[in-house]
Amino acid sequence: MTQGNERYLVAACDTSTDMLICALGWWAPSESGAARVELLASGDHMCRRRANVELVDTLDGVLRDAGLSMADVDGVLVGRGPGSFTGVRIGISTAKGLACGANLPLEGVSTLDASAWTAWRAGVRGLLAVAADAMRGEVYPALYRLDEAGASRLYERERVVKAALAAREWAERPDAGELQLTGDGLVRYGKLFEEAGLMGRACPRELWWPSGEGLLLAAAADAPAALPGGDPALVLPVYTRLSDAEENERRRLGLEQSEESRVTGVADELAGRHLQFRPMGAADAEAASALEEACFSGSGHAAWTPEMFLSELGEGAAVPRTWWVAHDDGELVGIAGGMVVDRDVQVLDVAVASGRRRQGIARKLLSHVSYDAQMLGCATASLEVEADNDAAIALYEGLGFSRAGVRRGYYGAGRDALVMTADLPLRLPVDAASPEPTSAAARPWPAPVPSRTDAERAEIARRQPVLAIESSCDETAVAIIDAEGNLLANQVSTQIDFHARFGGVVPEIASRKHVEVIVGVVDAALEEAAASLGLADGPLSPGELAAVGVTQGPGLVGALVVGVAFAKGFAFAAGKPLICVNHLEGHLYANLLTTPDLEPPFIFTLVSGGHTMLVHVRAWGDYEVLGETLDDAVGEAFDKVAMALGLGYPGGPVISRLAETGDPKAIDFPRALNRRGDYRFSLSGLKTAVTLYIEQETKAGRTIHLPDLAASFEAAVFDVQYKKARNALRETGAREYCIGGGVAANPHLREMMVRKLTRQGIRVTVPPRNACTDNAAMIAVVAREKFARGEFSDFSVDADPNMTL
Ligand code: KG4
Ligand code: ZN
Repeated sequence: MTQGNERYLVAACDTSTDMLICALGWWAPSESGAARVELLASGDHMCRRRANVELVDTLDGVLRDAGLSMADVDGVLVGRGPGSFTGVRIGISTAKGLACGANLPLEGVSTLDASAWTAWRAGVRGLLAVAADAMRGEVYPALYRLDEAGASRLYERERVVKAALAAREWAERPDAGELQLTGDGLVRYGKLFEEAGLMGRACPRELWWPSGEGLLLAAAADAPAALPGGDPALVLPVYTRLSDAEENERRRLGLEQSEESRVTGVADELAGRHLQFRPMGAADAEAASALEEACFSGSGHAAWTPEMFLSELGEGAAVPRTWWVAHDDGELVGIAGGMVVDRDVQVLDVAVASGRRRQGIARKLLSHVSYDAQMLGCATASLEVEADNDAAIALYEGLGFSRAGVRRGYYGAGRDALVMTADLPLRLPVDAASPEPTSAAARPWPAPVPSRTDAERAEIARRQPVLAIESSCDETAVAIIDAEGNLLANQVSTQIDFHARFGGVVPEIASRKHVEVIVGVVDAALEEAAASLGLADGPLSPGELAAVGVTQGPGLVGALVVGVAFAKGFAFAAGKPLICVNHLEGHLYANLLTTPDLEPPFIFTLVSGGHTMLVHVRAWGDYEVLGETLDDAVGEAFDKVAMALGLGYPGGPVISRLAETGDPKAIDFPRALNRRGDYRFSLSGLKTAVTLYIEQETKAGRTIHLPDLAASFEAAVFDVQYKKARNALRETGAREYCIGGGVAANPHLREMMVRKLTRQGIRVTVPPRNACTDNAAMIAVVAREKFARGEFSDFSVDADPNMTL
C-alpha cells in the first residue's frame, strides 16, 4: 500500500539465470535523480532448472516474512533476460500472472542492467564487462560505466556472440586493462577470458549473478518520477536470436516453389481453401504487382513492378526484408512488406484487394511483418501514408501508430505523406477470427474496478466461474465455465500461421507466442464471461473467479511452462485455488459438452497430433489403456502426408477437404496390425506407402489424383480405428463410445463411427468439432469437476510434458 502517497511496495523477480530472484522493496519516486529504493526482504537463491517450482512459493515466503501479503503490493518488476529461454519465460509468465491476478502495473527490466547494478551496489566502480551465459558456447556481452551516480550502458542493444569472440573484442580494447568482468558466463567460459588476460580484475564470484536489489536499482534509474510499469500484455522477453528453424527459413525465404508441388498441381487443388498467410515467394511477384496496380490506380503511389518485388526477395538485398501475402481460393488478396533499417522496420507496402477490405487482412499481414521485424532486432515500425487517406490512417492508429510528421509533396504536387511511427510489438488482434483489436490493446492499466450490484455479486457467487488455460502446443486458449457446466467464455488464439511455413510446430516459436498473447486471451475471456453473465460494468475480474485451472501436460515443455507459470502467478495473486489438468483427460471430457450424462464404462478413442490411444474408461479417472501407437500418431500421419504433397501444415483439414470428392477404394493402402485382439496401432508403414506412391507416380510422369489419394489414405486410417473400437466394445461389453483429439474433427471419421456403431446399439458421442482440436473448453470441463471435488494443486507444481492417462 502507498504510504503517505510517496512509498510503494514493489515485488521483483527474475529467473533468467540460475539465480532465482525474488525480492521486495520500497520504492519512493523522486523529482530529481533516480527513484529511491530500499530492499525490504529478499529470497534470492541459486535454483537450477527449478524456477517454476520455487518462484511463487518463494514470493509467498518473502511476503510472509515481511508480514505482508499480495494485497500490499503496488507493482511488479520482472527481468526480461537475456538469459535461458525457458528461464526468462517462466519469470515473465509468472510476473504477468501476478500483475493480471492482482491488477498491478508490470515493468520489464534488462537482466544485464540488473547485473551491472548488482556490482554497483557492491561498490564496484569503473568499467564493468558483463558476460552472461547464453549456452551453446555463447555469451551476452555488455559493457557499463559505473560511477557514484550509477551504472550506464556503453552499448546500443543486447546481442549474443561466441564467448571466444567476446573475449577477443574486449582484449583488443585500448582500455582492456581496466575491464572488471562479471556475469554467469564466467562459470563456463572463465578459462577463455583468463587466456585473453581479462580475469585479473574480475568481480568476486558471488557477484556473477544478478540480485533482486540490482533489479530494483536498474528500474529506479529508468523511472525516477513514478512507479514503473503498465499493462502486463506489453512486457516481452529480450529476443537476441532466432530459433534454428527460423534461421534456416530466413535463408530460404524468397526461393521458388518446390519441384514436387508443381508436379502435383497443388495450386488448383488448394482452390477453395480459406484465407491463409505465408511469406511471399518469387512466384508471387506477378500477382503482387497486379494487386498493387489495382489497389493504387489513381492514387499518388506508383505501383510496384514484378521486377521490384523480385529484387525485394532476392538474396542480395542490402538490408533484411520481410514480405507476406494473404491468399484465398488460389488468389492473392493482400500483401505487406518492410525493410529493416537501424532497428526500425520501414513498412514499404500494404495492399489489400478492394473486395476484401475490413476483414482484418491488413492487420494480420502487418502482424507477420512486425513479428519478423522483431526477430530481426527491430524496436519500432514506421510508414508513410497519403495525408488524406483517413481509412488507412485510422487503421494504423488502431495498431498503435501515431503521427510523427509530414512529407510535403511526397506523392506528387499537393499530395502530402503523413509519416507514422509505432513501438513494436504492434497492438494486434487476439486471433485471425477477430478482425478488431481487443480492448486489451489500448486499455487503461491497472484496470478500473468494476462496480457490481448486489444481485450481480450474488449471481457470480452462485455460478462459481472457473477459468482454464491451455498452452500445450500451438494454441493459446482460455475458457470460463460455471458450476453447471455452461461455458461463459471460450477463446482461442492460434499460431498456425506462424508455424505453417516450417511444416510443423516449432517449439521455440510456440512458447514465444504464448508469452506474447496469453494476457490478451485471458482478458478476452474475462470480457466474454461478463457479457455471458449480463454484467453491466466491466469484465469479470480475477477476484470474482472461483478457481484457476491449467493444462499441466502432456505437450511441449516450453509451451506448457508458459501456461503453468502464468496460472500460478494469476491464482496466487487473486487468492484463488489452482487446479492442474491432464490434456488427454481434457480431450476425453470434451465429450461431456455433447453428452452431459455420459457414464462409464465406455470405450474412448483418442486421436490427436501427439497421441493415438484406445481406452477402456471403467470409471471416471480409472483408465485402462488397451492400445497405443507404436510409432506415429494419427494426426502426425495426416501432417506428414500433407507435407509430402506440399499441402502445408496442418495436414488434417486439407486432406479431409480433398477426400470429400475422392474415391476411398481408388488406392489400396496397407492396414497395419489389423488382427483381432491386438489394440496397438502403427502408422509409419502407411505413411511410407503413401510417400512411395507419390514418388512412383511422379517418376512415371503421371499426375496424382489428390482427392483419391486423400480418400484412400483416410480409409486406411479410419478402417483400423473403427475395427479396433468395435472389437474393444464387444470384448468389454460397454454400450457407450466416444472420441476426442484433433483428428476427431474429421467429418468422415465422425460420420463413420456414428453410423456403424449406432447400428449395433452403441450410443456414440462426438464432441463439438471446435472442442476436438486443442481448446480450453475441454480443460475447463475437467477443472470444474476437480473444483467440485476440491482437488487443488500446490503452487510448487511444474509442467509435466510426459503425463499419461
Ligand atoms: O488435439 P490436437 O489439436 O493437438 C494435439 O493435442 O496433438 O490435434 C492436432 C492434430 C493435427 O495433426 C491435425 O492435422 C489433426 O489434429 N487434425 C485433423 C483434422 N483437423 C485437425 N486430422 C484429420 N482431419 C481433420 N479434419
Ligand atoms: Zn490435443
